[in-house]
Amino acid sequence: MNVLERLRAIIGAAAPPEADRAVFERAVRPAGDPRHGDYQANGCMALGKALGRPPRTLAAELATRLDLEPLAGPAEPAGPGFLNIRLHDAFIAADLGRMLHDDRLGIEPPARPATVVIDFSSPNVAKPMHVGHLRSTIIGASLARILTGLGHRVVRDNHLGDWGSQFGMILWGWKTARDQAAYDANPVAELARLYRLAQDRIKAGDAAVEDAARAETAKLHSGDPENRALWQAFMPHALQALAGLYDRLGIAFDVQLGESFYDDRLAAVVDDLTAKGLAVPSEGAMVVFVEGTEAPFIVRKTDGAFTYATTDLATIAYRVQEWRPDQILYVVDHRQGDHFKQLFEVARKWGYRDVELAHIAFGTILGPDRRPFKTRDGDVVGLESLLDEAIARARRIVDENSPELDPAERERVAEVVGVGAVKYADLSQNRISDYVFDWNKMMAMNGNTATYLQYAYARIQSIFRKGETTPAAVRERPPAIVLSHPAERGLGARLLRLPEVLELAAAERKPNILTDHLFDLANAFSTFFEGCPVLKADSPERRQSRLALCDLTARTLQYGLEMLGIDVVDRM
Ligand code: ARG
Repeated sequence: MNVLERLRAIIGAAAPPEADRAVFERAVRPAGDPRHGDYQANGCMALGKALGRPPRTLAAELATRLDLEPLAGPAEPAGPGFLNIRLHDAFIAADLGRMLHDDRLGIEPPARPATVVIDFSSPNVAKPMHVGHLRSTIIGASLARILTGLGHRVVRDNHLGDWGSQFGMILWGWKTARDQAAYDANPVAELARLYRLAQDRIKAGDAAVEDAARAETAKLHSGDPENRALWQAFMPHALQALAGLYDRLGIAFDVQLGESFYDDRLAAVVDDLTAKGLAVPSEGAMVVFVEGTEAPFIVRKTDGAFTYATTDLATIAYRVQEWRPDQILYVVDHRQGDHFKQLFEVARKWGYRDVELAHIAFGTILGPDRRPFKTRDGDVVGLESLLDEAIARARRIVDENSPELDPAERERVAEVVGVGAVKYADLSQNRISDYVFDWNKMMAMNGNTATYLQYAYARIQSIFRKGETTPAAVRERPPAIVLSHPAERGLGARLLRLPEVLELAAAERKPNILTDHLFDLANAFSTFFEGCPVLKADSPERRQSRLALCDLTARTLQYGLEMLGIDVVDRM
């Protein structure tokens, strides 16, 4: 059990009988202000209100019942009625000593590993991918890493939109306006051009193009040989372009089952829903009515076509049969919230009650004008060029700060810093909120950025280089951890928190809980580094202890960044 879990268990067991134990335990949290302690127990506040008794009295009574040894001394009632808990220095030091030899940094395997399917990235192929899909890709990949790191079984599934109306538009373009030479030279660019052409005409109100494109989609779905053959020809190019992008982002999937994969299962879904009395005819369509929502869930349209919703139902059935997951997480734009609410409700009625279905929603990336982020020509930003720009900007920083590195190494550092900055800017936001995309902020050397954390990591590597020693050498003759300086203690208390932070981030499915912690840790390291000489410490014991704290900090930063899909470099 990690420190937070241990405290929760002790405090939960001492809770007054009237308290809901789970709620009471969850009210034990890391302290808001570290000057008052390391953790605080807030359970008496809500309980006091419920019982009509002063929370301060309840907290004082609870404190007398608590025995937090050997973790902490007596809890101190404070404020309107919470308890402050301060870990014993000796406990922190002993735990850090254990951590020093633990490659897992104190992360223990779960009592019962869960199977979690994560549906993320899931772009609509053959048209330009945009920044919204970047968020899904980055957040989904990080959640997959965090859950895997905690010992759960994760299935990363890219639910590609490879069967949608964009193909009708492209097929129309192909048949009326293709530039064969351009296609031969760069198929993806030509397909995107044809898509845009159709989109522009339709947007301008050209009903003939709209009808033609819809007819092409219908022909594709009904098995028209020409359209199927063209689809087959387009797909590898589209997938290859995507694969290139995922490669640059260091992102992999276990399965990539797009909408097309489920096509031949859709009729059976509607039949089954109809047989069970869930789907009913309505104005020529087949729909499922869901209480509490206005629009019905359409599973077959008037023209006989199945929908995005039908596909999602078939997908749930397949995933449950294939992997028996405990959870399916959908990392998708918040604007699809209603769809998922309905989908989950219908799935439960259909019989999928044992699997937790959750929409991991996220907000919009905004430009400096606080409108959805776009390039000057009004097009949604292409992701490739976004990464190119990130790396170019990082290269300028590296050139300026580390001219002594050779150019090839500077380029590699620029890639790690540039891609890391883009990912971290996204992950460090509470995912529900919109955020403003700001190049300068995201690569700031001082601030809640990947660059700052990577720099702290590199700085620690240089301490070891300067001291002509290595982490392995320090670990070989394990020093007693000394926490005599407040900055040593501050750093040490934070180092213990990694396992509980990862659990919290996984439980809330919020990578920003991890980024906040890493930022806090890097700040504590900075305070430590200013206040506590390492190589010039006043005794060999203190020097070794401080080197051990450096090593633990570096490993925590590296592991934490790895969970965010971000690399570190030894010099920058
Ligand atoms: N392709 C969809 C889009 O771009 C996202 C799919 C999300 N996953 C799902 N199972 N519906 O909007």
